[in-house]
Amino acid sequence: MANAERAAAGLRPGDTEGARAARDDAPYLDALRAYAARGPGRFHVPGHKGGVGADPGLRESLGERALAIDIPALTQGIDTGPEPTPFSEAQRLAAEAWGAQRTWFLINGASQGNHVACLALAHRGDRVVVQRNVHSSTIDGLVLSGMRPTFVAPEIDAELLIAHCITPAALERALDETQGAVGALVVSPTYFGAVADVEGLAEVAHARGLPLVVDEAWGAHLAFSDELPAHALSLGADLVISSIHKIVGSLTQSAMLHLGRGSLLDPSVVDRCVTLVESTSPSSLLLGSLDAARRQAAVHGPELLGETLRALEAARAAVREVPGLDVLDERISGRPGVHAYDPLRLVIDVRGTGATGYDIAPIVLRDADINLELYGENVIVAVFGMGESAAEQGVRLVEALRRAVGSLDAPGDRARDAFAPPPPWGRLVMTPREAFLGPQEVVPMREGVGRVAAESLAAYPPGIPNVLPGEELTAETVEYIQQTLRLGGTLRGASDRSFATIRVAAERRS
Ligand SMILES: Cc1ncc(COP(=O)(O)O)c(C=O)c1O
Repeated sequence: MANAERAAAGLRPGDTEGARAARDDAPYLDALRAYAARGPGRFHVPGHKGGVGADPGLRESLGERALAIDIPALTQGIDTGPEPTPFSEAQRLAAEAWGAQRTWFLINGASQGNHVACLALAHRGDRVVVQRNVHSSTIDGLVLSGMRPTFVAPEIDAELLIAHCITPAALERALDETQGAVGALVVSPTYFGAVADVEGLAEVAHARGLPLVVDEAWGAHLAFSDELPAHALSLGADLVISSIHKIVGSLTQSAMLHLGRGSLLDPSVVDRCVTLVESTSPSSLLLGSLDAARRQAAVHGPELLGETLRALEAARAAVREVPGLDVLDERISGRPGVHAYDPLRLVIDVRGTGATGYDIAPIVLRDADINLELYGENVIVAVFGMGESAAEQGVRLVEALRRAVGSLDAPGDRARDAFAPPPPWGRLVMTPREAFLGPQEVVPMREGVGRVAAESLAAYPPGIPNVLPGEELTAETVEYIQQTLRLGGTLRGASDRSFATIRVAAERRS
């Protein structure tokens, strides 16, 4: 919703429209349950027929009720028949809860949302501005859509060597450079909880009549608490990708795509793109879980988030008590590329222990069965959900960390300062699509210099892609990746993790 529209509706940035749209039923999930309960003749797929034909182990694991509501698309009275069907009503309620003009339920995760976003933008032209450290699914979207990106570097936290968001000024410069750009794709919040100045980014894009797409995969919960930074739709984003399963609690692989009110993108184009990259047999379990997650968030979100936030405050305080550990919190707000901080991730800075996340994470796994979302050189990231028993789990995690840090045997000083920010990426010689789909060959890494990469390489830290399909591989980049690996860093995206070879386009272009 545009700010003027929000003000007219009595909303301020950060106001939770979602809480106002609370409705205590879940029409689609309820319709699935009603279908199962009436014992219908199931002369349709899936072949397990409501569970009777399923493997007993699967039946026992999922429970008979889950299998009974595994119902195909185009079932009368569920997602077909007189409008609004329970399914369209469920999507409408989600749109209302997040403050969208229209919402699509996705069954292939936020990844599908990124594919859709790229395909929808490609209807407007083929040049697009893209934050460099987007999720790999956005790069896949560029391959699918054939668009030619101009990349914008995120701000890098020189201390922690992690990437934050892009600034409105950086977006402005990239749009200046990109004749014929049809839109921009950015990420907020990041894995580490940095939230972008989405309002500023939207103003920059809109001043040129361009849509802003925000990958808010990590921020589905932001709409449901006044204690959290404002969510992207409320700040003028045109299309928002939301991985509901990550924090809000739907089943893995389910997500939503929200079209902003007053969006510069055409809903019918987005609709066709959603269909293009979706199975014709969407799982009713995934879709039902999205309907239920909307209810949970809209009805109980503020209270559940409040509890999790209090538990996380306590966990952060306890982590700080552990010698050598610190946490990221709202103190990072105001650093370049960090407009606000999302506290639903517990990001632990391990530098003071003299050890790395690579040292500590395996210890807590081995000794306490603690499984972390992410760990790297300087930080460990633990994700908390909207409605979990966060207080108890926080205590368990901190206790395991305390023991792990106590067990470290006098780690030597690591050469952290030697990790340098990455060199500039190479020139884009082909589109990602041309490089990905064209003829390719695998060559020894050194011979790859000057050739066009057909795959991605991202050395961690800080994990920003050094090479993407279609870009020229430079000697500086090869040297940088080798140096990072020598220092104990890792390489993501490469088909050859040892970095001995690289896949390049067979065709040479200058
Ligand atoms: C920023 C971002 N976007 C998109 C995705 C893809 O989400 P999903 O796993 O729901 O497809 C991720 C996954 O981690 C992500 O971090």
